[in-house]
Amino acid sequence: MDCKSIIFTLKVIFVATERTFVMIKPDAVERKLVGEIVSRFERKGLRIVAMKMVNMSRQQAEELYSPHREKPFFKDLVNFATRGPVIVMVLEGDSAIDVVRLMIGSTDARKAAPGTIRGDFALDIQENVVHASDSKESFEREHKIFFSPLELAH
Ligand code: CMP
Repeated sequence: MDCKSIIFTLKVIFVATERTFVMIKPDAVERKLVGEIVSRFERKGLRIVAMKMVNMSRQQAEELYSPHREKPFFKDLVNFATRGPVIVMVLEGDSAIDVVRLMIGSTDARKAAPGTIRGDFALDIQENVVHASDSKESFEREHKIFFSPLELAH
């Protein structure tokens, strides 16, 4: 096997092409940051597999944030997520889940590193401009709240 084939085989074994679910939250849509945020993901090399603007229902917000159902901020979070339109999307690329989490930065935007999306555009723990899946399991659950299989590009 030549060198190129070996590198390709190792990449297939160790670097998985993944999909992740991303939501641009109402605060970012209100502040007209959609283009800037989508552009960062595209410039990184991630592929948009699905994307649309939706007015999320309370039921969808409660399902999206179901892991936080018992948290004191749950009701506030659902109110925030449903106060205006959001952009939901599925992105694809090598290690997309970890790569996107790195790009968006810490949940608490006050602590998010400069250069990350939250670090550059937010200053709050709740209104933190963007959400992204934290695992394969989260991706499977989250994207199905908004997309049917036919809405995902091949
Ligand atoms: P997100 O990445 O969408 O996942 C859960 C969301 O809950 C998080 O971003 C914040 O918007 C919100 N959140 C997390 N912790 C807190 C907190 N302590 N107070 C208020 N909102 C929070």
